[in-house]
Amino acid sequence: MRNWENWVRMTPTAGLALALLVGACSAPPESQSRSENRVDQKDPAGPDPAQFEGFQSFHPGEQAKTYHSGFDGTNDYLTPIAFFADKAPKVTFSDPSVAELQGGVLTINKGIVTDLPDALDGKIQLLLVRSKKAGKTSIRAVAGGLDQTATLDVSAYTADDVRAGEARYNGGAPSCNSCHERLNVHNPTVLADLSDEAILGVAVDGKSLSQINPRTGQVETLRPNGGSHKWQVSDTERTGIVAYLRSRSLTFQLPSNVKK
Ligand code: HEC
Repeated sequence: MRNWENWVRMTPTAGLALALLVGACSAPPESQSRSENRVDQKDPAGPDPAQFEGFQSFHPGEQAKTYHSGFDGTNDYLTPIAFFADKAPKVTFSDPSVAELQGGVLTINKGIVTDLPDALDGKIQLLLVRSKKAGKTSIRAVAGGLDQTATLDVSAYTADDVRAGEARYNGGAPSCNSCHERLNVHNPTVLADLSDEAILGVAVDGKSLSQINPRTGQVETLRPNGGSHKWQVSDTERTGIVAYLRSRSLTFQLPSNVKK
């Protein structure tokens, strides 16, 4: 992959899952009523998208500036991390044996995501981070006067975990895919700042998830199916579902507002 930008333009949208940050999180499908899945909070005010700066966590209940990925020695784990700045940052890792940047930093603009809000046009710098082994590293990004450090936590999974997760996700009863194929939301871009337990909480345990809508900056509570989004999964499938989702490519469940 010599040139990341060319690669992105040539392959069906490679990293453009980033669009999920501005798209899928905010657009429940028409067949699902908003009230069934989302509860407005008392104080809906969040950051103005124009003020997003540096590493931005979209899930206020989670540890800020902490990202999660996996490693199993077989599958590819690429974690898309959005850094908000006027220009592409210089990126360094405290432990380069844990993860590295794949290609250059990609600047997301309206040429790539057609309905990107004006305030975000050219301001989202996408870091595509490839896991090299399980462990922790900090990621430092410097762009002009902006100098921030985030944490990347890489969990150890196995190829069998991924297979178990895939079988449950696509073939269980009910299969996750039977609904999620058209929901456009489980791309690694939206899961990167969620821990395994947070993903499983909302994915199978019926818990709510608090998230910032990147389009409006508002905080909303996602409560799928009014709290009855609970599914039977074995312990192996629990680990497997997270491993499977974290190892999906960036084109997984890509929304329609991304240019292909
Ligand atoms: C009957 C349909 C249905 C099934 C089956 C289903 N889900 Fe969901 N799920 C939903 C809906 C609807 C939402 C809320 C989507 C929204 O408004 O963004 C949701 C939300 C989620 C979320 C929160 C993030 C998000 O917005 O998507 C996760 C994670 C998730 N589901 C995982 C799973 C997994 C894993 C399974 C299988 C074990 C599963 N779901 C099965 C309908 C379903």
